[in-house]
Amino acid sequence: MTAATRYVEPERMGSPAPRLDVEAIRRDFPILARQVHGKPLVYLDNAASTQKPHLVLEATNTFLETEYANVHRGVHWLSEQSTWKYEHARGRVARFINAPNPTDVVFVKGTTDAVNLVASSFGAAFIREGDEILITHMEHHSNIVPWQLLCERTGAKLVVAPIDDRGELIWPEFEKRITKRTKIVSVVHVSNALGTVNPVRDIVHAAHSRGVPVFIDGAQAIMHMKVDVQDLECDFYAFSAHKLYGPTGLGALYGKKEWWEKLPPYQGGGDMILNVTFEKTTYAKAPFRFEAGTPHIAGAVGLSAAIDYVENLGWDAIEPYERDLLDYATERIGEIDRVRIIGTAREKAGVISFVMDGVHPHDIGTILDREGIAVRVGHHCAQPVMERFGVPATARASFAFYNTRAEIDRLVEGIVRIREVFG
Ligand code: ALA
Repeated sequence: MTAATRYVEPERMGSPAPRLDVEAIRRDFPILARQVHGKPLVYLDNAASTQKPHLVLEATNTFLETEYANVHRGVHWLSEQSTWKYEHARGRVARFINAPNPTDVVFVKGTTDAVNLVASSFGAAFIREGDEILITHMEHHSNIVPWQLLCERTGAKLVVAPIDDRGELIWPEFEKRITKRTKIVSVVHVSNALGTVNPVRDIVHAAHSRGVPVFIDGAQAIMHMKVDVQDLECDFYAFSAHKLYGPTGLGALYGKKEWWEKLPPYQGGGDMILNVTFEKTTYAKAPFRFEAGTPHIAGAVGLSAAIDYVENLGWDAIEPYERDLLDYATERIGEIDRVRIIGTAREKAGVISFVMDGVHPHDIGTILDREGIAVRVGHHCAQPVMERFGVPATARASFAFYNTRAEIDRLVEGIVRIREVFG
């Protein structure tokens, strides 16, 4: 069976969306069938990383076994074949996020690497002492620290837009902070700790109306929703392959052509130059200018296969299915005595963070693990979010299209048992 048959047509004419055949999908992900501590695995740590379907493993292995060589360097057949596959993957990413050109997409190590690239390169070209960089209070450390490093280097200032008790951006406060000194806005699309979906289109419009470019951290959005960078009109958009059912160590950074033409290289090395002499080096155009060294070629092939898998299922089927999981989990977890959900934004995707009175999140995580249930506990690399909600840590369940209501029932049973044990 191919991924194209992983949904069932709606029984009724006029039904709003195709339904996912989740049992068939689960068979595509071999790890989901395993047991942990003698119990069937319930994998609810998808915000940390998603599992990989067979198709991705197969595509990667076949490529490595039959077509692999280095890219952009050889005239021999294998190198040409490998280059074709790598560049095909770039085109596949561009189509997936509706980038106008494949060359607008730079392969990076992941979202973190993408933020560092933009902070370093954009920073070198455009950020000076007294300038401001605007982020929000719900950012992951990877969208805070690279900008702080830049501020330390340049004397620029990091400005933070506040969030409310639901975990939503406070819009007037955000708008107020876009000033004449603001040089870039960098915001998360979906918060990894709260699940909040930010109004990124409005953010881009507000920033652009004041002449300020916008970087969007799409690490947590890319697996939950259709992303269209032309519709968003953002200047940069980044995501990681491993959160889209693909390999680790690879991500994609979209940038508008006009930015790529202006930005200096991020790292130096092979494959990013036109000509090197000891006196002077000239650089290749984007995307190659930003891809020094041998890239993650097999990773790109895997990512391309992961995108095929997701697109064959279709957002029309994925989005309502995941919304149902989130609504169901919110309702059931919300009913448990003395459990508080952290992050109750009106627009959310895929994540429920919660705390229990009298029980440390690490105990929640450890006890659930003994039941075969994988959740993440801790500060989720978002310590300012924890500080905002007055908690040291949370337990976080995060969902993908292969999860089921039955798995959420297992999670709820696990939490209820913890409640009983701790009183
Ligand atoms: N940023 C990832 C998470 O939220 C690792 O778990």
